[in-house]
Amino acid sequence: MLITKKTKLAEVIHQNYHLIPIITRFGINFGFGDKNVEQICEKYDIRQDFFLEIINAFNDEDYSPINKLQNLPLEITVSYLLKSHQYFNKVKLPHIENLISKLEWTSAENKKNKSILNKFFIQYRKEVTEHTLHEENEVYPFIIEIEKNYNLSQNNIDFYRLLEKKSVIKYAETHDELNTSLLDLKNIIIKYLPPSDNIDITEQILNEIFDLEKDMKDHTDIENSVVIPVAIKMENKLRKRFNLK
Ligand SMILES: [Fe+2]
Ligand SMILES: [Fe+2]
Repeated sequence: MLITKKTKLAEVIHQNYHLIPIITRFGINFGFGDKNVEQICEKYDIRQDFFLEIINAFNDEDYSPINKLQNLPLEITVSYLLKSHQYFNKVKLPHIENLISKLEWTSAENKKNKSILNKFFIQYRKEVTEHTLHEENEVYPFIIEIEKNYNLSQNNIDFYRLLEKKSVIKYAETHDELNTSLLDLKNIIIKYLPPSDNIDITEQILNEIFDLEKDMKDHTDIENSVVIPVAIKMENKLRKRFNLK
């Protein structure tokens, strides 16, 4: 189903509950009655075209938001990516950690199994924190500056100095996936650890990890296919404008 501005938001959730975190990420609260996308976006001051691209991309794997997002201001996409970071770090990962702490094995191996799982989880969480913090502190603010200066008619000397030191091209070369160690975490549970006593918690953990994986993959796709190429195009034009290599 293609979600349009006339689609009721309640219908969207009934049809695909996986979209709930995306909707809350935009700051939309429940209790929206029969309001459609257009009315909700107006109420929360959300750019409707951006919302529709994101929600459709999450709803349908074959829907590609790339072309349309490339034509929207980077500032909007970056602010959404920031909210996704918060969701990964402050909601999803603490939740998975809490579930892991509830796992129990009756055997004497309880302690050993828990510590194996914890070790992998802590390592994974550390990687995600480092990755997201670097983007939040270094990359995203630089990209916002690029867009701001790209839209200015006058050259800004402070930005010229910044451009001498930094480049989105360099970030693009080293930008990696957030998901590599999630595969290890999944495999430990699926393949290697003996079954826990509380199988319902194991099931929940796996569901959470698969959900997070999809969310992070879409996140990285937006970075790699929208934010980075558009910022690089702007950066190259600015370098020409400044006569910088
Ligand atoms: Fe990111
Ligand atoms: Fe990233």
